[in-house]
Amino acid sequence: MAAVIECRELTKRYRGTTALAGLDLTVEAGQVFGFLGPNGAGKTTTLRILLGLVAATSGHAWVNGRRIPDPGGLAGVGAMIEEPSFYPWLTGRRNLDLLALSGARPPASGIAAALDLAGLTGVADRKVKGYSQGMRQRLGLAAAVIRQPALLLLDEPTNGMDPAGIREFRTLLRRLAGDGTTVFLSSHLLAEVAQVCDQVARPRHGAGACGRRPRRQRSSRPGRGLGQPDRSGAGRAGRRVPATDREPGGHRCGCSALS
Ligand SMILES: Nc1ncnc2c1ncn2[C@@H]1O[C@H](COP(=O)(O)OP(=O)(O)O)[C@@H](O)[C@H]1O
Ligand SMILES: [Mg+2]
Repeated sequence: MAAVIECRELTKRYRGTTALAGLDLTVEAGQVFGFLGPNGAGKTTTLRILLGLVAATSGHAWVNGRRIPDPGGLAGVGAMIEEPSFYPWLTGRRNLDLLALSGARPPASGIAAALDLAGLTGVADRKVKGYSQGMRQRLGLAAAVIRQPALLLLDEPTNGMDPAGIREFRTLLRRLAGDGTTVFLSSHLLAEVAQVCDQVARPRHGAGACGRRPRRQRSSRPGRGLGQPDRSGAGRAGRRVPATDREPGGHRCGCSALS
């Protein structure tokens, strides 16, 4: 199976701060891949590097086989990084209209489909300044899927969503994965990645390499539980994340197949 994302020894240093230290990971086509770490672990930095928004200090990354920052690799990539910004005085639908004007035109039905997918059809004609944070997150998701990307990069997308919204979001991710979309999902919540991801890696910042080449373990049923026994046997890369490890504050690293 083709690697959609590859990171090798990916490192980012800001003056006085190591945001990311030697990240190695491979995301294969069709996976829902969880990128799990506490605040400050380097999740957003990794996504920014993958999108060519910041340059790595050392190491390499490839998206769709193209070495970053080659923009050719970003065709077919949708992303939502941190909290998305929109024009507050325009409606959600109009904001998406404007986005659709930049870059390749999405299909005519793209905006309505994206609003529907994000569960915003009912509020699409309200001004964004009246949206809750969760609704703005959903609008960010709608913007990310407007061109029906084959690869979706999502940075803590459920921040600000209520529990019902989070449940819907999980269903949505499974639906996208079922349709063949590869999803790279960053989160600080173990439970979140446990419920929707096939595979997990953890960034570690400050020192040493982290993440491992994931074992190919795409489940035909995405989102099987973290508590499932690991039947992979000895010698595979990665390990199962203990279900009790709710706040990975120790910056441990590794990859897990959640099936
Ligand atoms: N532009 C920047 N300048 C300096 N330090 C930064 C910058 N961006 C991120 N950092 C630092 O890098 C570390 C990782 O940040 P980030 O990637 O945002 O982590 P996460 O998304 O996992 O919370 C943090 O210590 C953060 O303060
Ligand atoms: Mg972040």
